[in-house]
Amino acid sequence: MRLLIMGPQGVGKGTQAERLCAHYSITHIATGDIFRANIKGGTQLGKQAQAYINKGQLVPDELTNKLVEDRLGQKDVEDGWILDGYPRNAGQVAALDEMLGRLGTPLDAVVALEADRDILLERMAKRAQIEGRSDDNPETIKARLAVYEKETKPLLDTYEKRGLLVRINGVGSIESITDDIIARLDARTK
Ligand SMILES: Nc1ncnc2c1ncn2[C@@H]1O[C@H](COP(=O)(O)OP(=O)(O)OP(=O)(O)O)[C@@H](O)[C@H]1O
Ligand SMILES: [Mg+2]
Repeated sequence: MRLLIMGPQGVGKGTQAERLCAHYSITHIATGDIFRANIKGGTQLGKQAQAYINKGQLVPDELTNKLVEDRLGQKDVEDGWILDGYPRNAGQVAALDEMLGRLGTPLDAVVALEADRDILLERMAKRAQIEGRSDDNPETIKARLAVYEKETKPLLDTYEKRGLLVRINGVGSIESITDDIIARLDARTK
């Protein structure tokens, strides 16, 4: 199984991706998590990405595409994966198409989680207190949501036209949302 999980900041992509990975025995690839690990580890990539992330901007495509390409080429993802946080703009969609074409591993589906803006803001404020992410402050959150609306949301249409999009209500209990996603994905492959 090869999936994308998409949706605005705070909608629960990471939480649901972890649960789907456990269910389908596949690997979670979250570009934001990889960037944060690199920042923490003080790597060259971390140093290059940090300023963009702290401003709520996208890290430049050449860094992000390279990171994903390297990760998708590794042995441990051969049985499947969920990409979380990528692609986020049209250039990244094209880069991903190219990578997957070369690897001969097409997408099975694109899960789009949806929730209203006030719910997202509430969840991110709560997460800020628990996790202390450097980009979960009101100003940066606003910038990130604006980038999402402008650059990432239109990509849902792209995947809808390809017949890959599965829209899921991201409001409800964590368990019920996972069950909903799995039911919808399993119905597609029957
Ligand atoms: N595909 C990408 N292209 C460019 N930059 C990215 C990409 N993925 C992550 N980043 C950078 O990392 C930051 C954090 O990404 P991450 O996916 O963790 O958070 P988010 O989508 O803003 O919120 P959430 O964790 O709530 O889903 C982004 O704001 C961006 O700067
Ligand atoms: Mg996340």
